[in-house]
Amino acid sequence: MAELLGFGGYVPERVMTNQDWAALVDTTDEWITQRTGIKRRRVAADDETTLTLAANAAEVAIKDAGLIPADIGEIIIATDTPELYTPDTAALLQHRLGCDHIPAYDLGGSGCAGFVQALDIARARIAFSPHKVLVVGVELITRLFDWTDRATAVLFGDAAGAVVLGPDGGRARLLDVVSGTDGSQAEILTLATGGTRNPFNAASLAAGDHNRLVMDGPKVFTEAVRRMSASVEELLARVGKRAAEVSLVIPHQANLRIIDAIRRRLGLSEEQVYVNIQEYGNTGSATVPFALWEAVETHRIKEGDLVVLTAFGAGLHWASAAVQF
Ligand code: ACO
Repeated sequence: MAELLGFGGYVPERVMTNQDWAALVDTTDEWITQRTGIKRRRVAADDETTLTLAANAAEVAIKDAGLIPADIGEIIIATDTPELYTPDTAALLQHRLGCDHIPAYDLGGSGCAGFVQALDIARARIAFSPHKVLVVGVELITRLFDWTDRATAVLFGDAAGAVVLGPDGGRARLLDVVSGTDGSQAEILTLATGGTRNPFNAASLAAGDHNRLVMDGPKVFTEAVRRMSASVEELLARVGKRAAEVSLVIPHQANLRIIDAIRRRLGLSEEQVYVNIQEYGNTGSATVPFALWEAVETHRIKEGDLVVLTAFGAGLHWASAAVQF
């Protein structure tokens, strides 16, 4: 059984409002608010990178756990916006934090579900060998997306969140994780240029394909609601709990209407669901660990609470985790 020992989060200082976006592309505060619930998002400074965001959140989590980097036995980073194409951000973070020569690797391309998937891997690794695992969800997406595409750019922001897990001595117990993948729908949310099928070259650059996020919004919306609701139901059945017994659900923050639809499907009250999308937008694999850290920091989560994390993203991937504080 894995336990959660410490929590961390970081967002860049620069705030970008819906009005700021309306000055750049053909959109309005009203459209963004009504369709998504987003009011503001954070944008990384020029001297920040995925690695610095990840390191900031990781340092907070390690300190919160009462540990030092030398205590960490493994690092997993969930990100779709890595520091470099190769090697992965986890290798750079191992060196930056000054951890020992431990295993460190990224879950790349797992979309917004990556962090919760990584919790599943971490608990299996801890069962195999009782060491401490640092799990980070981080995105610096504003540097990679197309700033002229109003349909996608206004949705996203930059952030990082982190958790340290270990075999015992934690503030919360990871009870179970449910996760799944449906690759048949990979094309409804994809950044298809830069890999071996469509290598990055002068033609893709001229066509603007290098940063074109292809997204079928309504289909992604429907699948997100269906998959997150179903995986939470399966998870609760596995841990023998009813929705009414859940203190707080922390869902992936992609769209307030998606969150509301999940809440209604699961029969939850508004107080049972954590929402911070108005402040940060969709920060990909960082939304869940950042919100978890924020909820712990602001005492929204108390001892004895049953907390459910649920996420969905490109792949399609989904994952839900039950955490007993
Ligand atoms: N400002 C103004 N108008 C816009 C904007 C914008 N920023 N973006 C799109 N529009 C227009 C469209 O062009 C379209 O115009 P048309 O009717 O003249 O063609 C109109 O708004 C409606 O577009 P829809 O796609 O039907 O709008 P919808 O109500 O579905 O909302 C949204 C779009 C917000 C993307 C929604 O579908 C959604 O959130 N889907 C989930 C996708 C998602 O969350 N993606 C994030 C990454 S994946 C993840 O994290 C799960």
